[in-house]
Amino acid sequence: LVLRRSSRTRRDGEPPLIKGWIPVVGKALEFGQNSFKFLLEHQKKHGDIFTVQIAGKYMTFILNPLLFPNIVKDGRHLDFHEFSYKVGSHAFGYPLMKPKEFPGLQEQVSRSFLLLQGDSLSPLTESMLGNLQLVLRQDFLGQRPGEECDWKSHSIYKFCNSVMFEATLLTMYGRPPAASRHSGMDVIMENFVKYDTKFPLLVAQIPLWLLGQTKAIREELTRVFLPQKMTRWSNASQFIRKRLEIFDQFDMLRDLDKAAHNFGILWASAANTVPATFWALYHLVTHPEVAEVVRQELLDVLSQSGVEFSSDRDVTLTREQLDKLVYLDSAVKESLRLSSASMNVRVAMDDFSLRLEGERSVAVRKGDVVTLFPQITHMDPEIYEEPETYRFDRFVQDGKEKKNFYKDGRKLKYYLMPFGSGSSKCPGRYFAVYEIKQFLCLVLLHLDLQLEEGQGGAALDPGRAGLGILWPSADVRFRYRLRAVPPGP
Ligand code: HEM
Repeated sequence: LVLRRSSRTRRDGEPPLIKGWIPVVGKALEFGQNSFKFLLEHQKKHGDIFTVQIAGKYMTFILNPLLFPNIVKDGRHLDFHEFSYKVGSHAFGYPLMKPKEFPGLQEQVSRSFLLLQGDSLSPLTESMLGNLQLVLRQDFLGQRPGEECDWKSHSIYKFCNSVMFEATLLTMYGRPPAASRHSGMDVIMENFVKYDTKFPLLVAQIPLWLLGQTKAIREELTRVFLPQKMTRWSNASQFIRKRLEIFDQFDMLRDLDKAAHNFGILWASAANTVPATFWALYHLVTHPEVAEVVRQELLDVLSQSGVEFSSDRDVTLTREQLDKLVYLDSAVKESLRLSSASMNVRVAMDDFSLRLEGERSVAVRKGDVVTLFPQITHMDPEIYEEPETYRFDRFVQDGKEKKNFYKDGRKLKYYLMPFGSGSSKCPGRYFAVYEIKQFLCLVLLHLDLQLEEGQGGAALDPGRAGLGILWPSADVRFRYRLRAVPPGP
């Protein structure tokens, strides 16, 4: 029985169907080992559209970015939120936001995401810059100006994690009374990494009780955000304050449920940002000539604005100044292109004909999962010459952002998609890019950087493919020292 193929067969008008020998599991194991390689191999055989049986689901992959616009637009047959709400509830432990039990909750939560964008971005990025400088200064820039600057050694991922994670937490949730930083941050970070390592299994709906310590670790992390603690914290973002107000309207939500929602937001705001920051810094450390170009661009923009950087004073970097840094922007985009492996997932609400372009369409069955896999686009040599190579200025043309990328001679609307698309596009994307840029600017202003001798290149660990930014398969050691910048007057 186990060796019998599943009974589904391809119908007229449906894409090629790829099934495994093990019913239900299908191709899950091969896909899970290296989904990028798996999809490339099947793309060669079956073309840009095919359906794969994966862990009890039928997933129809659309791999040609010229076909993305119709899928992204189709909100009538294709739904994102049913899937994401289910994953969120299972992964973070809050009750499903069913409209009957929690009328209006889904809508209010979605509306709260607007507080990560538009006018709300300025206070958010200002607060982040202050928190980044606080953590960097206290933990890494300890030498007094004028003291001899010795090289220190650290691991790039650990360094990025300790600064970005804590600064993000302070910016989103605020700080405890009469203190500038939360106590026990090392334990929170350690637990977060342990929990996050199991996250792919939680997304795959593996029951929590099968995941060893994960249940206890998740509860410990959740308890950090109990409302009675959070109401005592000051300087929380408008976004988090609004969410607390929303949750308070629902008596059915227990304190632990509200805390679980907040923990979910911590995951969303840190789990991709930290590895994205790692890759952005890693490429600068391994390409010192690029670091120098980006640093010089930053110093030029600062001096044009009349700002003289001094190592002993906090620097102000406005959004307008950051927006002028085209090489920095391109370097960040290029590292996102090389490291992102998210999946854009939509569930078919009924049997329907999915319009692709012109008269071309494919039949999709109710419950099937239509999936875009942008990593294939990001690594397409027709779109990006030598796609494996890091070219920091790939997204610059004539001193401005380059936006024209082509496939089959046609200009692409979707060529870089680290933040998803359409209804599932990350609401924190603008903030994420600003905070990564702020971090890199501060590091470049304050520190000289070097790859430690004997350190090889970092490889992508394919284990988290589908979830966002990939982790490096191993951390990389680097050396840093305070730059010889004169103290302020
Ligand atoms: C959703 C990527 C940073 C908040 C998403 C999705 C992607 C993504 C791909 C869509 C998931 C899907 O289609 O299933 C990233 C990357 C980041 C980043 C690559 C950093 C480089 C952030 C930050 C925040 C944030 C800093 C908040 C401050 C969210 C939220 C959602 C989300 C709340 C869920 C939206 C919804 O349910 O509609 N992110 N993200 N993200 N992201 Fe981000």
